[in-house]
Amino acid sequence: MDEQISNTKQGYEWFVEQFKMTTGIDLTYYKRPQMERRLLSLCNKRGYNSFEEYFPVVCKDQELMEELLDRMTINVSEFFRNPTRWETLITRVIPRLYTGQTFSAWSAACSSGQEPYTLLMLLLTLMPISNVSILATDIDSHALDIARRGIYPEKEIDLIDSPMRNQYFSNRGLNKVQIHDALRNAITFKQHNLLSDSYPRNLDLIICRNVLIYFTDDAKNAIARKFAQALKPGGILFVGGTEQIFHPEAFQFKQILPFFYERL
Ligand SMILES: C[S@@+](CC[C@H](N)C(=O)[O-])C[C@H]1O[C@@H](n2cnc3c(N)ncnc32)[C@H](O)[C@@H]1O
Repeated sequence: MDEQISNTKQGYEWFVEQFKMTTGIDLTYYKRPQMERRLLSLCNKRGYNSFEEYFPVVCKDQELMEELLDRMTINVSEFFRNPTRWETLITRVIPRLYTGQTFSAWSAACSSGQEPYTLLMLLLTLMPISNVSILATDIDSHALDIARRGIYPEKEIDLIDSPMRNQYFSNRGLNKVQIHDALRNAITFKQHNLLSDSYPRNLDLIICRNVLIYFTDDAKNAIARKFAQALKPGGILFVGGTEQIFHPEAFQFKQILPFFYERL
């Protein structure tokens, strides 16, 4: 595989340029070895030996383009992913942020919605829905469509405790469940590229998990800086397992708990 990659280095660079012109997504901000390997294996799976043969075909075929975007974005998500960290969020972090007024949160790179819905269900244990404002964004419009519909395979909610499951999900048949309209309507889902779009302001909480790992260090640092500007002083950034910020003070953050950073 490595030999194959080194033979197509020119090809990947060519592809990155073409991909940016076609989709607006700049892959130079993503760690190259993993991304190149992922996309090259798809290219090979479709029967092409090089990006130069593969990409022109993709551009003329919507399904192949969606498949390529899917492979690029890695949409894996789940409700209550890493449950103990959510427990920490709701028992130790939110109580120090919530003042009894509107609570503003951003689930950045929310994929198909499991993360912002998890947040909302937890917040509702502490505050009325009228006090909650959640923005949930992702670069992938297909994942956002799933998030807006809020329909999931029944097995995805197995790990949610049963009072919550019964309170917020209805059976849709064919082993599917749908999250209630009140929750769907309480979240604003919007397409947003963390690398190039402007960020919201005045937030109490940003959750950004399991996407920073795909970015180069420069891109990650630029995002950390923009997150700091997006938060109110005292606001919290919640990151994923391997996404620690190494010198948090350089970005106006202080680590208060593993995976949680307070904006100074
Ligand atoms: C592995 S999922 C993480 C989902 C969720 N945050 C979680 O932890 O379960 C990574 C998400 O990042 C999104 N993503 C990738 N690049 C992005 C970018 N430049 N801007 C915004 N979202 C991006 C992908 O579309 C994908 O939905």
